Amino acid sequence: MSPTAVLTGIGGYVPPRRVTNEELAQSLGTNDEWIRSRTGIQQRHWADAGTVTGDLAAEAGERALKSAGVRDVDLVVLATSTGNQPMPATAPEVAANLGLGQVAAYDVSAACAGFVYALTAAAGAIAIGAAERVLVIGADLWSTRLDPADRSTAIIFGDGAGAAVLRAGTAGEAGSLLGFDAGSDGDRRALAVVPGGGSRQRSHPHAPELANEYLTMRGRDLFTQAVEHMAGSSQRLLGRVGWTGADVDWCVAHQANIRILHTVADVLRMPRERMLSNVDHVGNTSAASIPLLLSEATADGRLEAGDRVVLTAFGGGLSWASTALIWPDL
Ligand code: COA
Repeated sequence: MSPTAVLTGIGGYVPPRRVTNEELAQSLGTNDEWIRSRTGIQQRHWADAGTVTGDLAAEAGERALKSAGVRDVDLVVLATSTGNQPMPATAPEVAANLGLGQVAAYDVSAACAGFVYALTAAAGAIAIGAAERVLVIGADLWSTRLDPADRSTAIIFGDGAGAAVLRAGTAGEAGSLLGFDAGSDGDRRALAVVPGGGSRQRSHPHAPELANEYLTMRGRDLFTQAVEHMAGSSQRLLGRVGWTGADVDWCVAHQANIRILHTVADVLRMPRERMLSNVDHVGNTSAASIPLLLSEATADGRLEAGDRVVLTAFGGGLSWASTALIWPDL
């Protein structure tokens, strides 16, 4: 039997600077009530200049290693769409800064679905014997890519990082990843995109929209797609794992906004209280969203050993991914 990936540590980190709705309201021509009622967000954290995505990732990684009680891994997989630079990947720098030695390290780019994609990659590496212990991190620093004049994106995104340690174990252990579902829809890539800065820009030098290196988003369409794919992916996953919606103690969905989370719960016929959330105080932290919430909910006791948990994520690409596990004693 090939080894199974077992979650054995969790950690999260947000930079210290809190940015409240009031702080954004005046310059963006919006207000706290509008932002709260549409998104459930009251504040987010933005990193100051001088802090890079890899710094957030390393801090969360350090905390996850501590939670697992280990100091070494043989692979680092970092989910991010806002790396320290376009090339090289940020994961090797994070591994070096954590003192992990010359371990395998690479980035996964799947926007807000990135962390669950990275878990899949790490579980695959464990299953084929390529790694025994993996540090999986989701980190994004979108504040560097937000158009300060675009009120539809500036209110939503926060910076942060979250991380988990996976180890080789056996099926049936608490913490073992029970199954995966993932998919993509490249035809809808324009719904959330940073148009500039890539090879497409050079190929179409006179397209003004390709000079834009800020995140652009079609909010309404994304809302619908997020609900459809997080609910659909969760349902397929439940079928594979052999659970029904009623078996799930907690659904940990990508923290896009509270209305999306509530609608996913309604489609899954799950009480809204079973959707764990921290979007009110961190906003949408993209690839960091799920591990950051897992870390917070473990620390405050909402998430307990033995709870049946579904993780489901959706983001630009479009891309989506889900997995499930019985929460271990951390
Ligand atoms: N404050 C005040 N008005 C705003 C605003 C803000 N922060 N952002 C947008 N508006 C305005 C628009 O300009 C528009 O005005 P108009 O009708 O005069 O043109 C109006 O509100 C409606 O815009 P729309 O984008 O249709 O609003 P919405 O009700 O869909 O809410 C979002 C906008 C972004 C909050 C909402 O679409 C959303 O949450 N989408 C999902 C986004 C998301 O989660 N993305 C990440 C997915 S991983």
